[in-house]
Amino acid sequence: MNNASFTAPLIRGAAIQKAGKPWTVRFLGKEAPSSQSAVRIVIDTDDEKTAAEIVHKAFDTVKEGGKNAIPAIVEAVYKEENAFFITAPDMSSLKAAESGTAASWPIDNAEPAKTGNAVCPSCRADVVKNKVALVTGGAQGFGEEIVRGLINQGAVVCIADLNIEGAEKLASTLNTEQGKEVAFAVKVNVADEESVREMVETIALTAGGLDLCVSNAGVLRASSILEQDIASFRFVTDINYTAFAIVSKHCANLMKRQNAACPSWTSDIIQINSKSGLEGSNKNGAYAGGKFGSIGLVESFALELVSYGIKVNAVCPGNFFDGPLWSDPEKGLFVQYLKTGKVPGAKTVQDVKAFYEAKVPMNRGCSGPDVLKAVLYLVEQVYETGQALPVTGGQVMLH
Ligand SMILES: NC(=O)c1ccc[n+]([C@@H]2O[C@H](COP(=O)([O-])OP(=O)(O)OC[C@H]3O[C@@H](n4cnc5c(N)ncnc54)[C@H](O)[C@@H]3O)[C@@H](O)[C@H]2O)c1
Repeated sequence: MNNASFTAPLIRGAAIQKAGKPWTVRFLGKEAPSSQSAVRIVIDTDDEKTAAEIVHKAFDTVKEGGKNAIPAIVEAVYKEENAFFITAPDMSSLKAAESGTAASWPIDNAEPAKTGNAVCPSCRADVVKNKVALVTGGAQGFGEEIVRGLINQGAVVCIADLNIEGAEKLASTLNTEQGKEVAFAVKVNVADEESVREMVETIALTAGGLDLCVSNAGVLRASSILEQDIASFRFVTDINYTAFAIVSKHCANLMKRQNAACPSWTSDIIQINSKSGLEGSNKNGAYAGGKFGSIGLVESFALELVSYGIKVNAVCPGNFFDGPLWSDPEKGLFVQYLKTGKVPGAKTVQDVKAFYEAKVPMNRGCSGPDVLKAVLYLVEQVYETGQALPVTGGQVMLH
């Protein structure tokens, strides 16, 4: 682990504790910025709790205009290596701190961060405001919808995808649309632990920590068990099941360090599962098996990680008929099913779509906003963990 990614979440957690709201911390490098002096913190322990106390003590010495304040520039010395960080209440204020306009941020409300951590606890609209979120597989489909939704709600989002061109293009479009930095792209293969470790390190160095991990990347290769190539079964299981564990492992470690400095701060790991994680899927066993298994992981991780303020839940959407998986005009499932005659009597793509829509009591497919609402609910609801929340228009009901 890069030494700066050990100290960044401790600094962010201490700032959140002091401010009672999300905070942004960015690694500047090993050289002091010329603009202003830094608050120096020497961390001479590997123990996260003890290290967090050292950071709190240093923060307690910072005052501005008679008020408690959070330093804008921090120099952390850990394992004899120094690292400079810039801190600000949100991404857009980082520049003010870097240019020397703000030496420290006075805190008006000295109340410590509350459990529930909504900026406005009674108001779902603010539940992710200025928080740091990760969406894997965020370049397209449900992932893109969740990225856009979280950004509209005020979050800063790391768009992580194997398709880095798509992720970068989306991040740049959203930054331009919003007129400020709201997204950054990272290349990741969620099935490769080293790649996931690097992704989480980039998040720690860019934003200081993580409040919400949406583990969304997933793949589907449907096949009869009588014929399925086992390499393809393993591929689906690797990404839909094992990769969820890899992503949870590295994100939870970052969240745990942040929580050491702010124990009342909760964070969330949410897997985008599927209705096929709740009931079997004909000739689609690898997919359904990986999704069912992931619910076992959700429950088990939830039991363990609750001690660190980390909730772990799943959202189980129904079919996203308007997304690329179903509607892509060349490779989409509607075109494939029309060509293979899977839907008897269907003459057009619309006929195939209508056939599948009729299976849903609410007579339509699941949409991005449907899934986003479920994600925001799970973040807002601090008294729930280890659950799988169906969003299927009534197609799958809990037994
Ligand atoms: N589309 C549906 O009807 C539907 C229904 C229920 C659940 N889901 C679930 O929603 C999630 C998203 O599905 P979608 O249909 O939007 O997918 P999609 O195929 O449209 O997009 C998936 C994204 O994940 C990325 N990705 C794939 N493998 C990756 C890897 N190894 N590492 C990093 N990124 C990777 C792809 O590049 C792509 O951008 C999946 O977990 C899926 O199981 C989808």
